[in-house]
Amino acid sequence: MITRNHISVGNRVYQRINRVPGFPIVRLRRLRKSAAIRTLFQETHLSVTDLICPIFVEEGISKPRPIESMPDIQRMPLSSLVSTTEEIRRTGIKAVILFGIPSSKDRNARSAYDERGVVQQSVELLRKHFSNTLVIITDVCLCQYTTDGHCGILLNKKIDNDKSIRILARVAISHARSGADIVAPSAMMDGQVAAIRASLDKTGFRDVAIMGYSAKHASQLYAPFRDASHSKPKFGDRKTYQMPYTNSREAMREIQEDISEGVDIVMIKPALPYLDLIYQARKHTNMPICAYSVSGEYALVKAASQEGWVDEKSIITELLTSIKRAGADMIITYHAMKMAQIMNKANN
Ligand code: PBG
Ligand code: ZN
Repeated sequence: MITRNHISVGNRVYQRINRVPGFPIVRLRRLRKSAAIRTLFQETHLSVTDLICPIFVEEGISKPRPIESMPDIQRMPLSSLVSTTEEIRRTGIKAVILFGIPSSKDRNARSAYDERGVVQQSVELLRKHFSNTLVIITDVCLCQYTTDGHCGILLNKKIDNDKSIRILARVAISHARSGADIVAPSAMMDGQVAAIRASLDKTGFRDVAIMGYSAKHASQLYAPFRDASHSKPKFGDRKTYQMPYTNSREAMREIQEDISEGVDIVMIKPALPYLDLIYQARKHTNMPICAYSVSGEYALVKAASQEGWVDEKSIITELLTSIKRAGADMIITYHAMKMAQIMNKANN
């Protein structure tokens, strides 16, 4: 055991007692002497292709609309979806995740699996325009589509888990039919991945992948997103289905369950206060891991940047790189465009 009476050098351990004058100091600064030498020893690399850019598409609007709590992020009408995505694609980002804001809601979230629904139309448009040069991911949930704003279907003011996963499977199939590459169920209903996998396979969409929002926590950090997408629950909260942020063993169970249900990518959400979970998941599984750095994380960083309290470029580079260092393979982030532009400039 190394105690305070020992010192380790490489893989050797010396007793301090034997220390002779002039004992070599380990000079880690040799590896930091210049920018060039630092890049040689850089362990973690963030790349443009790690980034997944979220897009909000709103039905029934004619111009992009700002989101107050998310500066620089807009809700798009279908008519500007292609040009916005072209802009994203030009930065080198290859993947987007779509969130729909429908013009009609009801108790059973029917607009969520409507063939002419806002996400379905968006996917069709993008697939037609970009063919296979763009990875199209869709968020599969009901909260934007139900009148009460919950992620599942209610029966006597309680979530009916098993009915909800049948509806979620219908939503996923409708997205697959429109041309989605990856469906991402975010409702945190038990068994949602198994239900979706079985339905996709039965309807011939064996090659559509599932990204599970596996360890999705009940978090205040989703507040700006709910503003943006009008998906705040009308009563109660999401704590009966989203995970408590106090529990890391339970997070590993959620991930394990999704893996056994046949998920292709596991996700941890939020990202920054949850790096320990990303790190644990990395040790725990060989599955691809996606980290979702959520709207509230974006809002905090953006607010401080706008005030001039931190430098936006430096802070987002540091934060996103840290998410990768923790073990994430890919990151969903509202900073995606900005980050990609920064990286492209640095490489020139
Ligand atoms: C839908 C969904 C939410 C987010 C992603 N999908 C909101 C929620 O669960 O309330 C949050 C994303 C963000 O905050 O950026 N269930
Ligand atoms: Zn939801």
